[in-house]
Amino acid sequence: MSERERIAIVTGANRGIGFEVCRHLGRKGLFVLLTARDRSKAERAAEKLRGEGLDVVAHQLDVTSESSVAEMEQFVRSDYGRLDVLVNNAGVALDQPRAIRSFFDAPVVSTLHDTLEPNLFGPVRTCRAFVPMMRERGYGRVVNVSSELGSLTRMADGYPTYRISKTALNALTRIVAAEVKGTGVLVNSASPGWVRTDMGGPDAPRPVEVGADTIVWLATLPDDGPTGGFFQDREPLPW
Ligand SMILES: NC(=O)c1ccc[n+]([C@@H]2O[C@H](COP(=O)([O-])OP(=O)(O)OC[C@H]3O[C@@H](n4cnc5c(N)ncnc54)[C@H](OP(=O)(O)O)[C@@H]3O)[C@@H](O)[C@H]2O)c1
Repeated sequence: MSERERIAIVTGANRGIGFEVCRHLGRKGLFVLLTARDRSKAERAAEKLRGEGLDVVAHQLDVTSESSVAEMEQFVRSDYGRLDVLVNNAGVALDQPRAIRSFFDAPVVSTLHDTLEPNLFGPVRTCRAFVPMMRERGYGRVVNVSSELGSLTRMADGYPTYRISKTALNALTRIVAAEVKGTGVLVNSASPGWVRTDMGGPDAPRPVEVGADTIVWLATLPDDGPTGGFFQDREPLPW
């Protein structure tokens, strides 16, 4: 099957890196289900990419909601019968907005709960919903959008809840990759670097196209591509 017939889901794709990933997957000819937790934001973003001539359809998906993920799974099964690519991009970084500088600051426990919901449990839900579909057909590409802040080798202070969520997401990558090894489903973590988005802020050195590049590369790997890896700029990052 060529890239032109592949179906991809991108989560949290109404803005930022996720939106750019949809654009590049669309340019490669994939059919993209652009998802967002707010239906109207998904519609507006998809409309914009359709205006660029890309094959993009909007769908509501809140990764923190079991019922929303279940509804999306049902929709994909009934309307398309398969999924080829899953990009777990949706995420939050709540440490700075909540004035957390240290792990010992007061709201760390509640903030960690609020962060793990989209950043970890979201991908847990979507992997459980969609990876079995991929395994059944013997083809799949899963990209978990992580961060170098989740690297244990480079672990440091600052952003404690965000770091923990991305380290845990990397563990999920390894676990799912091991479970589906040899089935045609490749599962990897991508670090986009520090990117100019609402999350990254205006001082970030990287434009969204650069942040999206490794994610798109991993989403369209050839069959002999890597699995169970962690990459930035298409190169391995230390776990
Ligand atoms: N920017 C960076 O420097 C950087 C660096 C390393 C890793 N990352 C990672 O890259 C990914 C994208 O980041 P970004 O910079 O593009 O951030 P962003 O501009 O803040 O966009 C985040 C996206 O996630 C969505 N989202 C949040 N919670 C959601 C939920 N429960 N269900 C569905 N969507 C949800 C947001 O939707 P709403 O519009 O509804 O809020 C938004 O579309 C994240 O996983 C982030 O951790 C970013």
